[in-house]
Amino acid sequence: MDIPYGSTAHHAFVTNVGLVTSTGPQGENIMAAEWTHHLSYKPGIIAVCLGPSKATTENIRATKEFGVSIAAENQNVLSSLAGGYSGKKVKKMDALRELGFRFVPGKVIKAPLVEGAAIHVECRLMEERVYGDHILFVGEAVEGTDFEGILPVIYNRGKYWKFGDQIQKPPEEELNRIKAVMEKHAK
Ligand SMILES: Cc1cc2nc3c(=O)[nH]c(=O)nc-3n(C[C@H](O)[C@H](O)[C@H](O)COP(=O)(O)O)c2cc1C
Repeated sequence: MDIPYGSTAHHAFVTNVGLVTSTGPQGENIMAAEWTHHLSYKPGIIAVCLGPSKATTENIRATKEFGVSIAAENQNVLSSLAGGYSGKKVKKMDALRELGFRFVPGKVIKAPLVEGAAIHVECRLMEERVYGDHILFVGEAVEGTDFEGILPVIYNRGKYWKFGDQIQKPPEEELNRIKAVMEKHAK
């Protein structure tokens, strides 16, 4: 079966938005990728899943490196611009700088990272593999910074969301009942 763009099944997935930066044959570029995943702690490994026709795909294939800045909850406009125009047609980074968005140079990779993002990760490409209509680029984190206190934006149903109330655990009594049932079924 398919899981089409905009379908109920697609909308069931809640994601972050990775702002994927690259510098290559398509110039300095940025795109938005909701399919940005953390795969491993030690070493840190990040994967992004990109369409074959993206300028970013061409850049990563040529340079074997990319940056991931996880968009903060106030970076929805930046995300929509990065995701709404292709670097094949627009010098997005120049336009974004003119609009007031700021970038910082990569420490290890040539591509910059996004100022104000929740985290920065500089990745060196380990592997790429085609899955259906997208390509999974898997990168080892070679450098990175966390910015405590900056919350990531949440992406769902094609809209941006903020964290709301934390869901509380059930009361102690119910937790004890659950624990007892789990223990009863121990292997
Ligand atoms: C919030 C958001 C998330 C997106 N996620 C992805 C994604 O995970 N993979 C992808 O290939 N395109 C995704 N897109 C679309 C690309 O960002 C878009 O096609 C962009 O223009 C590609 O830029 P480029 O051609 O300069 O690389 C997303 C767009 C938005 C707005």
